Amino acid sequence: MSTMVASSLESLLRRRKPGYSLEAPFYTSGEIFEADLDIIFRRHWIYVGVEPDVPEPGDCMVVDIGAASVIIARDDDMGLRAFHNVCRHRGARLVLDEKTTVGNIVCRYHQWTYGLDGSLLFAEHMGPGFDTACHGLKKVHLRNVAGLIFICLAAEPPADIEDMARDLEPYIAPHDIANAKVVQQIDLVEEGNWKLTMENNRECYHCSVNHPELTIPLFAYGFGYSPDEVDDVGREQIARYDGLVRDLETRCEARGIGAREIDHLDDRVTGYRAQRLPIDQHGESQTMNTQVACKKLLGGLNDAKLGGLSVWTQPNSWHHFMSDHIVTFSVLPLGPERTLLRTKWLVHKDAVEGVDYDLRNLTSVWAATNNQDGELVGYAQSGARSPAYEPGPYSVHTEMLVEKFTNWYVGRMSAHALAPEFADCGAR
Ligand code: FES
Ligand SMILES: [Fe+2]
Repeated sequence: MSTMVASSLESLLRRRKPGYSLEAPFYTSGEIFEADLDIIFRRHWIYVGVEPDVPEPGDCMVVDIGAASVIIARDDDMGLRAFHNVCRHRGARLVLDEKTTVGNIVCRYHQWTYGLDGSLLFAEHMGPGFDTACHGLKKVHLRNVAGLIFICLAAEPPADIEDMARDLEPYIAPHDIANAKVVQQIDLVEEGNWKLTMENNRECYHCSVNHPELTIPLFAYGFGYSPDEVDDVGREQIARYDGLVRDLETRCEARGIGAREIDHLDDRVTGYRAQRLPIDQHGESQTMNTQVACKKLLGGLNDAKLGGLSVWTQPNSWHHFMSDHIVTFSVLPLGPERTLLRTKWLVHKDAVEGVDYDLRNLTSVWAATNNQDGELVGYAQSGARSPAYEPGPYSVHTEMLVEKFTNWYVGRMSAHALAPEFADCGAR
């Protein structure tokens, strides 16, 4: 970071107004985008995929985070490992496809060959003094949280991922990600800064007007409302919704399944939140008819009506776990004004397409919702570019989680970019 960029980032961070959206440069500036990559994406735990992305020994998945490219590989002992996708000879990219299966990792350039543990096994013409042991692939930290794969590019990753894992496992484990399979992945490029993609996800203020499909399974009152604006009909609906929340919590807790809200979105280095929310009508799944899309339920579940467990992590993911399927989302920055939203749909690994589930039925709600959200993010980005843009107030009733996202972001950026006396503000 140049001194000028650092000082303007510093002043922008220092004058951030709580309860308001960020100033325009946070959404538009190339320098701040580079600072985001450096501070947020290279020093925090980033969600990149699920265990079933690499189900068998030799399976590899490549994820690009800014200029970094990372291989996530399943080794011969079924362990998961992550390496920089950079050959230790002259640096060529090793694995070129997003998904592939290999015996060893062989560089196409001069055939240096690495084992699935990253060790260099073979390098021709390097002479007798050459030490293969010094030229293994560079490791990247990986933490598997109940089947969700997080990686961290920092030398010393935030240790509090262990708190997140401990808290989230009772919620996620019943859905048994390891014994599921990815049946669809859709990569959507949104024309907006990654923070606008995240902010858009953290509220449903926009849902009733913009998401005709999503608002079939989701309750309008589940994402906050202004109490002054509720009429008698609304009060009845809120009472019914609150009853369903309590009923779902009681039923799940009786089975040892996590349901109650836990929220550490802006008081930790590794921020997260989880809550199991009721689903409207048939109460089963986030589908167009609110019934399960897959007849074979996940894990050992025998109750279709478990609502939808929502899990949010900072800085780049959210997830929905139903009894029959899982939808998981990762946000990866491509440029100051371009973002990749990667969505995966999972069902039980033994479910058969056309027999147990129909792919269109499975994916229709979130495929439509993502496209709608992508457009909204594009509109927000266009607005942030305008000279008339200024930070606007978040709703205290419906945008609390947006505030927590920006609060976490400003806290983490400040911890690294500001003078030591400010290093402790926001998330610790
Ligand atoms: S750059 Fe990989 S073998 Fe030469
Ligand atoms: Fe949305």
